[in-house]
Amino acid sequence: MAINIDIESKTFTLHTIKSTYQMKVDAHGNLLHTYYGPCNHGTDFSYLIAPADRGFSGQPAGAARDRTYSMDHYPLEYPVHGNGDYRIKALKAGIVGSVPALDLRYHSYQVTEGKYGLQGLPAMFAAQNGDVQTLQVVLKDLYEEIYVTLYYGVFEKKNVITRAAVIENRGKEALCVTRAMSMALDFLENDKELIHFYGKHQWERQYERTAPLHGISEISSTRGMSSHQHNPFVILCGRNTTEDYGDCYGISLLYSGGFRIQVETDQLEQLRVVCGIDDDEFKWIVGSGEQFATPEVVLCFTDRGLTDLSHDISDAFQSNLIRSIWKDRQRPILVNNWEATYFDFNGEKLVNIARQAAQIGLDMLVLDDGWFGKRNDDNSGMGDWQVNEKKLGCSLRELAERIEKIGLIFGIWVEFEMVSEDSELYRSNPDWAMVIPGRDPVRSRNQLVLDLSRRDVIAHLKATIDKIMHLADIQYVKWDVNRSLENVFSGYSPSLSQGAVRHKYVLGLYELMEHMAENYPDVLLEGCAGGGGRFDAGMLYYTPQIWCSDNTDAIERLRIHYGTSFGYPMSSVAAHVSVCPNHQNGRTTPFQTRAVCAMQGAFGYELDLEKLSEEELAQAKAQTEFYRKHGELFHKGRYYRLSSPFENRDFTAWSYVSQDQAKVLLSVVFTDLNGNPKTLRIRLKGLDAGAVYVLEGKEYTGAALMQAGLVLPVPKCDYDAWSVLLEKQ
Ligand code: DGJ
Repeated sequence: MAINIDIESKTFTLHTIKSTYQMKVDAHGNLLHTYYGPCNHGTDFSYLIAPADRGFSGQPAGAARDRTYSMDHYPLEYPVHGNGDYRIKALKAGIVGSVPALDLRYHSYQVTEGKYGLQGLPAMFAAQNGDVQTLQVVLKDLYEEIYVTLYYGVFEKKNVITRAAVIENRGKEALCVTRAMSMALDFLENDKELIHFYGKHQWERQYERTAPLHGISEISSTRGMSSHQHNPFVILCGRNTTEDYGDCYGISLLYSGGFRIQVETDQLEQLRVVCGIDDDEFKWIVGSGEQFATPEVVLCFTDRGLTDLSHDISDAFQSNLIRSIWKDRQRPILVNNWEATYFDFNGEKLVNIARQAAQIGLDMLVLDDGWFGKRNDDNSGMGDWQVNEKKLGCSLRELAERIEKIGLIFGIWVEFEMVSEDSELYRSNPDWAMVIPGRDPVRSRNQLVLDLSRRDVIAHLKATIDKIMHLADIQYVKWDVNRSLENVFSGYSPSLSQGAVRHKYVLGLYELMEHMAENYPDVLLEGCAGGGGRFDAGMLYYTPQIWCSDNTDAIERLRIHYGTSFGYPMSSVAAHVSVCPNHQNGRTTPFQTRAVCAMQGAFGYELDLEKLSEEELAQAKAQTEFYRKHGELFHKGRYYRLSSPFENRDFTAWSYVSQDQAKVLLSVVFTDLNGNPKTLRIRLKGLDAGAVYVLEGKEYTGAALMQAGLVLPVPKCDYDAWSVLLEKQ
């Protein structure tokens, strides 16, 4: 049974194939967190809690005489502000007019088949009958009619447990919530390290592994989006954990707005993790009879190392989070005109690129920014979604038809969430932009953010989506956003709590994305936020792939892809071959290396195909043919990180292994050149040890390839690549 309940001792135990998770109601009615780790059956882990009088750690109601009992050092399932716990909390709320204080005690529970949903929010779902069960544990405040339901979705076979909390006000007075985290997770010992993924625009998801501080370590975004700077996915792992061995916990928040993940080492060297919505400006009023739902968080534990963790998360997202029909389909190989032309194009130029694309064998042309309104640079036109027929020399439909005649399908770029002050939309609806009245707004890319908390803005944008989607046969949409939020003020309703606007913005965004998903289910939707500024699991619910970074340099992408691969399926990583010297960093790399790197995800080209040399053209044809031929391997194969670009100076290597272990694509990019070079070798992973694999006419056993490895060729030039296919005999 995935969910095991001992009614007498009020112990709730959740099982997946690799983990056990346990909580228990104690004699005072508090819900303790007693265990999360390797599979265990039949143990009540509360014996590990050692009561002791810890000075200055007070007693909650009903326990005054027991000085060994305090919320300040007991492991708790959903810690709240106001009952004597001085660590980081999951929930901070109080009746309006009073001070924040709650004392939640156990009320009831319920187990149901299937998966709970969260209104208006992304959430994992059951893919087939019986693959998930839901546990609800209801807590109630001792004094007020405030209920908190903790939701657990147990995907036993997928090795994933989801969590969310719903706060419900059944009392008469309004409740003011200033912090509502999706989860807290307490560990009795701090024997762990934190892996997280930091960065900046054009340099997302850089891997860092560190010991948590005494005090609070924080990974967060106050930017209104999950951000380039931090990612709402972290790993806690044992100090000795490697790719192949050891305990690790993956924590992934399904949320695309600002977030906060905190890790606290407390006075007793215990560890607490909390994860949820950014609460910097958060203030949500839960009126009488109302509810507030937190976003969902996905937990995954394995004792088999980081590769296994990535595989489990990736599989679970692939089958139970991504909904698009494209998740199981090979993605079209595309050419995008952004780095080819930027804003400087016309219909003729696009058609010429399409002709060349057809020669190469590509599937789709994507028309990027600049096709609408007065938009010849990024200072104006945003919000005016009228086709610039003068620039294109024809209607969008005519352009798409010309491209179709050449043999390509047609895709388009949009950025619905933003507005330029120099636009008709802004001139007619200035109050639709989020600015603080009386203050000059913070501008970024010289644009403002539309107030997606407003119903009229959402209605306008839904109508805009429908209008655009009927302009031509559009088979792909790249949904971009190009600034962080700041001065988030909504002029919509004076009674609205301004502290609610950031979250309402995200709910508005999800509503628009849902509109896309529902009405245009066949369209391939690609997420984008100036590259990978909103690369999060929440987005995957709507977009099966995301533009991974505005940095298209193959060598910097090695690190970006490496970091991304820890928490996301590689099929969701959009990656393109671009021109050299690279537009972002000036580096020159071989054409083939650029393709090898870009084949780590949803593959395409983003350069002026008309300017390719004969040799490059022939290479592009061969690359396209290769990617298409082995599409299944790229799309559904297991991805192995074989070396770390953060540790290995000489090369970065990875592989794709087909589910049946019959095909292996090994790729190596050399990152250093030496005179009299040492011999480099690489060990493969995930092969059938007993089988024989053939590479370039030579035979190797799977065991030898995994235990001793292969000798790598000597690189012939800067950033040379070696990508080879091994096939089982
Ligand atoms: C940022 C994206 O990441 C780019 O690929 C491109 O679409 C530009 N925006 C267009 O403005």
